Amino acid sequence: MQSLLSARRCQGHGRSMVSRVASNRVRLLSRPVALCGGVVGAALAMLAPSVALANPPRPYWHPGPPWAPLAPATPEMHQISDLFWGMLAISALVFLFVTVFLILSVVRYTAKPGQGGEPKQVFGNRAVEITWTLIPTFILLVAFIFTVNAIRDINSPKQGKILDIYAIGHQWWWQFDYHSLRVTTADELHVPLGVPIHFHVTSADVIHSFWSPQLERQIDANPVNDNAVYVKYDTPGVYSGDCYEYCGTEHAFMKYRVVVQSTAQFNAWVAHEHRPPVAGTYHAASGTKTSALNTSLVAAGEKVYTNNTCVSCHTIAGVSGGVVGPNLTHLGSRWTIGAGAAPMSEQVLEQWIHNPATYKPGIIMPAYTFLSKKDLHALATYLISLK
Ligand code: CUA
Repeated sequence: MQSLLSARRCQGHGRSMVSRVASNRVRLLSRPVALCGGVVGAALAMLAPSVALANPPRPYWHPGPPWAPLAPATPEMHQISDLFWGMLAISALVFLFVTVFLILSVVRYTAKPGQGGEPKQVFGNRAVEITWTLIPTFILLVAFIFTVNAIRDINSPKQGKILDIYAIGHQWWWQFDYHSLRVTTADELHVPLGVPIHFHVTSADVIHSFWSPQLERQIDANPVNDNAVYVKYDTPGVYSGDCYEYCGTEHAFMKYRVVVQSTAQFNAWVAHEHRPPVAGTYHAASGTKTSALNTSLVAAGEKVYTNNTCVSCHTIAGVSGGVVGPNLTHLGSRWTIGAGAAPMSEQVLEQWIHNPATYKPGIIMPAYTFLSKKDLHALATYLISLK
């Protein structure tokens, strides 16, 4: 009993010794750990902007159902969708038929133990050979007729007064020209309901692919061809579009938005596009300059814009006429910066101009790291005011 008690005491003593040694060790260790932590913390604080932008903020993006057959929103896509489901049904039937017969054959005709010899051969059986040649031929013929019919319908120009829209792929954004309406925009397509549209799809550089999965067929944007897409919209809404062919580093950020709206709304949008982007900006079309509403910051921003090389790449109606980069006339009213690369906000725009590669590595636009914080702020304020 005594020895048991002393053993327990010893155990208890041992435990307290261990914990004391451990706590000493922790205390000894805590100094270098704290020092290391401090150094790492300071380094992180210095790197804060780049750490924060390691995952840059992205705009809300709802690409919709992954395949057009799941949610078509134009007669053309309904036709493609019907074709898809029809083909899928035929394939499923063939698959089911083959599988059932395969299983039946395995169960019914596998040699039983003790069973020997060669089964009865059907080689040279004309009836069987004609049957299994005719059935697939018939199935493929039906599929072929329906496909050719759909291709012919979808690829035929529509009747009525057609609206021509020029969709031009660039590395990495989309230019949309409505020549007849004297409107040019970027990454945001507005289309009227019920009006037959003829898209002229081309490219300014490499091969891109123009596709809005719910609205129109996919087609290559090729630098030398004028590829046609005919479509007539019948369901209002906001849809997603994108480039669907790898075209370089920023292929992923070549998104666009399609706004399908009533003719009245579309006409209002066209009228808005014709208006000077901001009160106070000289408007070439009307030859007037109204400066009453202009704030000094916006005016300072416009000066930064015109005094720098922005003007040689971008167009702002009445201010500059560059055509290398997207038209910025109504930039502030668009949904994103950089074709889906960043949300449209004054703060993001500042960072974008400072170094667009933070959001879109490989982008052709150079960094404007030499601009002062004050100039950047004024420039971003001006650009976002272009509504
Ligand atoms: Cu343009 Cu991919």
